[in-house]
Amino acid sequence: MAITYLEQERAFKLDTPNTTYLIGLVGSEGLLGHIYYGKKLHSAKGARLFLRTQEHPCTPDINTRDRVAILDALPTEYSGHGVGDFRESSVRVRDKNGNSGVQLTYLSHEIYKGKKPLEGLPATFGNEKEVTTLVITCEDRVLGLTARLSYSVFEDTDAIARSVCFENQGGDALYLEKAMSGCLDMDNRDFEALTLHGGWARERRMERRKLGHGRFSVSTLRGETSHQEHPFLALLTPGTTQESGEVYAFHFVYSGNFIAQAEISQFDTVRVTMGINPEDFCWKLMPGECFQTPEMIMVYSAAGLSEMTRSFHKLYRGHLIRSPYLHKKPPILVNNWEGTYFDFDEQKLIDIAREGAKLGIEMLVMDDGWFGERFDDNRSLGDWQVNERKLKGGLKYLVDQVNALGMKFGIWIEPEMVSEDSRLYREHPDWAFAIPGREPARSRNQYVLDISRKEVRDHIMDQVSAVLHSANVEYVKWDMNRPLTDLASAALPPDRQGEIFHRYVLGVYEMQQRLIREFPDLLLENCSGGGGRFDPGMLYYSPQIWCSDDTDAIERLAIQESTAMLYPLSTMGAHVSVCPNHTVGRVTPFETRGYVALAGTFGYELDVTKLSPEDAAMVKRQTAMYHRFNEMVREGDYYRIASWQENHLYDCFQVNDPQKEKALVFFTQVLNEPNRRSRILRLQDLQPDADYHIWQVDMEGEELLKDTGRTVNGSVLMQGGFLFERLWGDFQCRLLYLEKTE
Ligand code: DGJ
Repeated sequence: MAITYLEQERAFKLDTPNTTYLIGLVGSEGLLGHIYYGKKLHSAKGARLFLRTQEHPCTPDINTRDRVAILDALPTEYSGHGVGDFRESSVRVRDKNGNSGVQLTYLSHEIYKGKKPLEGLPATFGNEKEVTTLVITCEDRVLGLTARLSYSVFEDTDAIARSVCFENQGGDALYLEKAMSGCLDMDNRDFEALTLHGGWARERRMERRKLGHGRFSVSTLRGETSHQEHPFLALLTPGTTQESGEVYAFHFVYSGNFIAQAEISQFDTVRVTMGINPEDFCWKLMPGECFQTPEMIMVYSAAGLSEMTRSFHKLYRGHLIRSPYLHKKPPILVNNWEGTYFDFDEQKLIDIAREGAKLGIEMLVMDDGWFGERFDDNRSLGDWQVNERKLKGGLKYLVDQVNALGMKFGIWIEPEMVSEDSRLYREHPDWAFAIPGREPARSRNQYVLDISRKEVRDHIMDQVSAVLHSANVEYVKWDMNRPLTDLASAALPPDRQGEIFHRYVLGVYEMQQRLIREFPDLLLENCSGGGGRFDPGMLYYSPQIWCSDDTDAIERLAIQESTAMLYPLSTMGAHVSVCPNHTVGRVTPFETRGYVALAGTFGYELDVTKLSPEDAAMVKRQTAMYHRFNEMVREGDYYRIASWQENHLYDCFQVNDPQKEKALVFFTQVLNEPNRRSRILRLQDLQPDADYHIWQVDMEGEELLKDTGRTVNGSVLMQGGFLFERLWGDFQCRLLYLEKTE
């Protein structure tokens, strides 16, 4: 049984394959205390002592004299607000008189097999054999508020999914001003915080720092997950590496404003909270109504970051991504964005498709610029009708031509936006967010549509749907190119304006759900000016997300390393583009660009009609390489061996097939150094008793795989390491393939 209630201990014990989580009832009124989270416990006997409820002043039943001291020290499962716990609250509620103050106490609980979906929200899932769920219902009698704290544990993954559902059971409206998805209290163990931060074209760089007293947080108020911060926080014991140290990781399944916070208290405890950012949030809850928070994922690893990574990968592959492409090789695409930008017509696209087909490319994706009067990025968003001056013969003609070449066809859309210069804006200016009396801020010369309104969502999706039905479109890239500002909705009363950010995200989810329901075989790729909305929430709708607008192979090493720390490689949109690279001007070998893109979805973002004969020949080789190795990349286990973000010289990672009989090792010498010996790096998690034969992927010879003539024992590769020969020049990449010998 993965979840049990222990009568004697008055505790709930939640078990994953290698971890245990313990919640205890405290005192006769039923405060919810947190007892333990970490490596699996064989039994919970005696673990209650961790609650320290016998220690002065924490004697809840007899010490009514100093309740503040009790509440401010108790390790709490879900912290209240305004009645004695001065650490970060998990919930804040204002009643009709303007009073706030919440204290949730135990009312009942339920344990069941399986997991219910969260209405309107992305969430992990699993059947009755795969997941067990505990729901603890708590109440605040004064407010007439109940909170159902939900915990789901997975049979095959060391992850726990948490969320909270609030219900107003009183007679008056309540205003939910803060509703965290989870809270975790434990003793501080000199924790370091690991977070991801960045900016446009340099998303998700790792940052690690020691936590001090007070509050440390990462957050966004941009209305999308953002390029700048990621809804992820991990606490690491000092010295944690890829293979050792303890990791408490938290990831948020949401695509809008969030906050993740760690607070070290006066008693050296740490409290982690994660949820929708309470700034600019206020949800009016009418009697009988519920508010469901998004889901927060907790992963604990006793063996460093590498194990944490594989737990997230397993969870997201097995219990979050729903696409028919989850276990399928996606077609190799060529996207015309960096190849042509807005300067294309149907003939140009057909030429790209014809040349691409010869080289082994399988799908043409027509990016921005095909609709309305979209000859540049200043106009036409919102007018989702094909520009037949540009695409003569219309979309169906183009797609039929492309299909006749043996290529699939995909299309770009940006449904959440509107240009001032568009028919839609002229007809419905009130559909764009604007605060009355204030000119809304433009970004990329565009406004944001108020998709909290159903009629706006329906209007846009009806247009998009008509386009997709008009031709054989098999892929959609859903883009979103600016943050949200000037939020005011003409459709909501004054005391509901605080709901807009969240309603916007719910609107995005509803639109994407409609899209994949209406086109169940569609391959959907999300994008937000690159990777501005790369989050687990979007993965629920699309199996892949464009990782970054920076397609430079070396920049991508860092972006993809940090992204792969949490997300399976198959989710990371990655393309080979031209050099000098359009974002950084760097020139890297075509071969290196291919290997870096292989560790993602793999595709091209260039004008294939302009390739040199050498590069064109290499495209043929690279597409063959993709077919040979995509399954391993997609389904395999990922190991980080060396990080050039840390050493600034070289980068190495490995992918093992699930049986550990085959491995791919990607090694990049980012910078060459003078007078340097070759490097020995240790490989990971091979079969120690097995011998492995080693090939090098070859972009020039007769065969794709060049035999190195080396057969090495698994334990030698893991303990002794593998000698990576020093390469001549910068930005050189080698791909090794290892296979167990009989
Ligand atoms: C931003 C995306 O990240 C790019 O790939 C491209 O689709 C442009 N938008 C088009 O406007």
